[in-house]
Amino acid sequence: MTATAYQKIKELLIESPKTWLITGVAGFIGSNLLETLLKLNQTVVGLDNFATGFQHNLDEVKSLVSAEQWEGFTFIEGDIRQLTDCSKACQGVDYVLHQAALGSVPRSIADPIATNETNISGFLNMLVAARDANVASFTYAASSSTYGDHPALPKVEENIGNPLSPYAVTKYVNELYADVFSRTYGFKTIGLRYFNIFGKRQTPDGAYAAVIPKWTAAMITGDEVFINGDGETSRDFNFIENAVQANILAATTTDPDAKNQVYNVAVGGRTTLNTLFSALKEHLSTNGISYTQEAVYRDFRAGDVRHSQADISKIQNALGYEPQFDIIQGIEKAMPWYVTNKK
Ligand SMILES: NC(=O)c1ccc[n+]([C@@H]2O[C@H](COP(=O)([O-])OP(=O)(O)OC[C@H]3O[C@@H](n4cnc5c(N)ncnc54)[C@H](O)[C@@H]3O)[C@@H](O)[C@H]2O)c1
Repeated sequence: MTATAYQKIKELLIESPKTWLITGVAGFIGSNLLETLLKLNQTVVGLDNFATGFQHNLDEVKSLVSAEQWEGFTFIEGDIRQLTDCSKACQGVDYVLHQAALGSVPRSIADPIATNETNISGFLNMLVAARDANVASFTYAASSSTYGDHPALPKVEENIGNPLSPYAVTKYVNELYADVFSRTYGFKTIGLRYFNIFGKRQTPDGAYAAVIPKWTAAMITGDEVFINGDGETSRDFNFIENAVQANILAATTTDPDAKNQVYNVAVGGRTTLNTLFSALKEHLSTNGISYTQEAVYRDFRAGDVRHSQADISKIQNALGYEPQFDIIQGIEKAMPWYVTNKK
């Protein structure tokens, strides 16, 4: 079997370690990036203000790496809404993985100003700080919500519709700023449009939890599972390790044509909420937990897109991305963590 682009780059990184900045490092995606990079013996700076991230995510990563690898990590408690915090974090960094943001469509509908401040002003601060620190690359978390009301499936990067929520506006503005930074300052970035990432350390708690952790936790504790709408809403659920791969490939690409681009980060599949409900039930059962209740259907949620499925050929061709886990393989890998961490 020939080595994948990802395998090759991981070997190169081990041979020649780099310094990375992960913003939002105490969150779900950030802490998984941290775990992978430390296991590759990289030096990592992390920035987070714990708005939606947790110290326990960092503690868990510490327990999963060697003491020597953990020595390679420096944590800065700070806020991307402060340029000084961003500048401090970018000092001496090769690769920036900018994940910090306020996620969730409903959160942004409830408080658009807070979402705007972190996701747009904070993003702009990070761009300025990273540009001024002359970092080698800047990769940021964009979002599939940017496709908005565009009806085409699968989603192709250049065809977007109108945003359906304040959150989607902020993520689209990130892309616009990124492009303008390329044009005006020659500072080229890569945006990764994540499609419903899931896996360990994604919080099941709070009003704005994502569907997989929320439902799994409810099933474990025997609570009701609510489906918004008729259950035929569909998503391209993508396991976290595929998203980690996309970040590492994007950060390290040396192809100039691959930069100043946005890419879909997904599997390229489509799963309805009804199918997801059955799959989670089944995989909990193989982990010794039986959930016998039926789902409770309620109204569609404002701001949600109906169907989402990515065309991933652009990232496959430009960066050599190959998702290693489909949704079922991802659920299999994630489920033991949810069972172990159940309340
Ligand atoms: N999880 C997904 O499916 C998904 C999909 C599309 C896009 N995204 C994007 O990916 C990124 C990471 O999402 P996640 O799922 O890991 O969410 P998360 O909430 O677990 O992580 C976000 C982290 O950013 C931190 N943060 C928030 N505001 C901050 C601020 N002002 N200063 C410093 N740190 C701050 C939070 O404390 C948290 O640790 C976000 O940009 C999100 O919009 C995620």
